[in-house]
Amino acid sequence: MQLGKSLAAMPSSGIRDTFNLIAGKADIINLAPGEPNFPTPPHIVDAARRATEAGHTKYVDNAGLVELRQQLCKKLKSYNGISAGPDELIVTHGAMGALYSAFAGLVEPGDEVLLPDPSWPNFLMMATLRSATIRNYRVAAENGFLPDMNELERLVSPATKLLLINTPLNPIGSVIPRARMQELLDFAAAHDLWLVCDEAYDALTYTDAFVSAASLNHRERIIAVYSFSKTYAMTGWRIGYMVVPREIAPVLADLQEAMTSCASAPGQWAALAALEGPQDVVAEMREAYSARRQLALDTLGQHGVPAHPPDGAFYLWIDIRAAGVPSRTFARGLLDEHKVAIVPGLDFGPGGEGYVRASLAAAPQDIGAGMDLLGQYHTKLVAESGTHVRNLEAKP
Ligand SMILES: Cc1ncc(COP(=O)(O)O)c(C=O)c1O
Repeated sequence: MQLGKSLAAMPSSGIRDTFNLIAGKADIINLAPGEPNFPTPPHIVDAARRATEAGHTKYVDNAGLVELRQQLCKKLKSYNGISAGPDELIVTHGAMGALYSAFAGLVEPGDEVLLPDPSWPNFLMMATLRSATIRNYRVAAENGFLPDMNELERLVSPATKLLLINTPLNPIGSVIPRARMQELLDFAAAHDLWLVCDEAYDALTYTDAFVSAASLNHRERIIAVYSFSKTYAMTGWRIGYMVVPREIAPVLADLQEAMTSCASAPGQWAALAALEGPQDVVAEMREAYSARRQLALDTLGQHGVPAHPPDGAFYLWIDIRAAGVPSRTFARGLLDEHKVAIVPGLDFGPGGEGYVRASLAAAPQDIGAGMDLLGQYHTKLVAESGTHVRNLEAKP
């Protein structure tokens, strides 16, 4: 029996490969996962329990519970600066459900899509499943880890259908500032593209640079994607949502029927409780990530290892080019010699080579110890690569 061509072509997620590598191993300092190490706050768990006991265990509207969508409108207005009605929102099976809906609903086989490189591997997986032609645009240090408008102009063609952006960006933590966001929106309008903006980390920012795409203009072409996973430590509840143009909301709601029918009903009641309950739980987690971010930067700084101070999300993008080995060799060596798990930059795309990603969603003592060991390992490799270069130079 043969697999469908697009599934056969789909790359696996390198992040999952790292998880598989460490599965069952003891004493690992695990800085690989992109998942909060906090439990879901108890009042949210309680609300879900009460909802299931009250019988909210059935299918709900394809677009999601109306109570939840009404509450989301308030959040979008006050936090993201977006005026949207419940009829412009679709609740989905995590942000992933929203993203896949966008690919499934808007991209035909052969359409070109513009994806950031490096970026979260699931974008590439989803675009491949739609048999799209992928055009990577670089998100590189020389451009402040932001999309470069000149490069996008070079890549775009009449076959381009969709531009995907992610702010804050996994794996780098860069945030697209207002002026660049406006340029991206104008670019999408000029070339008649859908603009999918993944804002799953909208609540986790450490500067005031963050702006939501849909708070500006060109709403008719924006699919803005959000999640409860990171904001409220609710990864396993699988609740996300998207703000979409009103005209296509009904058909995107129908698409949920084909994909999942609806997002989990108890999960949606839990999400409602998350929005209605105290928001200091979010602030506390954000402050904890911010302190860990500083701890990691300081520890790496003591070893002279450069890293990009993230404006958002909970990752550190560490520059290992001086170590003189590919990122996968570096990550494997760090795991074998020091039992520290991180993700090689190459697993986020070719543009990630020369970097590794460490997660800040781990206990501070693990982050301190892990970054210290990474620093020691880096120093050793730098010394060895210096010796190697000197040996090469010494040869006639
Ligand atoms: C950029 C980005 N978008 C979306 C998601 C997934 O969100 P959800 O759990 O809501 O599907 C992740 C998870 O790591 C992510 O990094």
